[in-house]
Amino acid sequence: MTSAWDQIALMESSSPVADQLEKTAGLWVLELLNLPPEAFVGFVTGTTMAHVSALAAARQYLYQKKGYDLAEHGLQNAPQLKVVLSEEVHISVLKALRLLGFGRSQLNIVPCDSQGQIIESAVPEFSDNTILVLQAGNVNSGSSDNFHTLIPQAKRAGSWVHVDGAFGLWARASSAQSALVKGVEEADSWAVDAHKWLNTPYDCGICIVRHKHALREVMTTSAAYVETQDMWQAKDMLPEFARRARAVEVWAAISELGVQGIQVLIERCCLYAKMLAEGLNNFS
Ligand SMILES: Cc1ncc(COP(=O)(O)O)c(C=O)c1O
Repeated sequence: MTSAWDQIALMESSSPVADQLEKTAGLWVLELLNLPPEAFVGFVTGTTMAHVSALAAARQYLYQKKGYDLAEHGLQNAPQLKVVLSEEVHISVLKALRLLGFGRSQLNIVPCDSQGQIIESAVPEFSDNTILVLQAGNVNSGSSDNFHTLIPQAKRAGSWVHVDGAFGLWARASSAQSALVKGVEEADSWAVDAHKWLNTPYDCGICIVRHKHALREVMTTSAAYVETQDMWQAKDMLPEFARRARAVEVWAAISELGVQGIQVLIERCCLYAKMLAEGLNNFS
């Protein structure tokens, strides 16, 4: 229906209904995932573009704190940033970093244990030049990094913490599974897919950024024909300009399933995954 309806979810005046449903869906996502209510929620094509958006905001935020004007001076003589990430980082993070102009020599790759969790004793020192990328849900094992110890350490040093939670962040929506991602709420940004566990049609990723001014500074656009009083319109917060009203599907899925329905969905998937891991013989 969203495709046939063909709303342009650029800003409130281009589609008031898409704008309203997007804002409502965004609030619901924050509630479901139990993330800071002040964060901005943006609907993008997938987790890959959520990484691009969040990491662009991260860079902007760290530079701004140093008084470096990236929009004016560009990257050529910018202070060096270091990205700390795990050797099991999802390839989409590496793509996002490449798109943003981070080179391999700026990556500090940390070894993992057999479950793909970052080995904490191998983590380098953090600073206010660091972006730390953690993972909620490893594609091979489903495991998550130790957010409750790593995030406070990085934040104390002035680093930005981004979390790839493409599917794993949905564990937050289940009281039985949320301990798996304990402490993840202290990060600065999160990327998660609605087209994974929430099962909306492709394409639908969600970018969540605590420091929304930093995101806006990177993404904002201005011209007489798209003037608006609302600072937080999609065109000023996300990479796309014209875009499909993909949040309508998130709104519809959450309306239909409700908090309990989503909880059941997640717990059932976890149960099946556990049964599969224990051997298909147990699967009746
Ligand atoms: C952990 C993880 N991160 C990122 C991605 C990329 O997500 P998308 O294809 O929505 O960009 C995936 C997709 O499988 C994933 O499993």
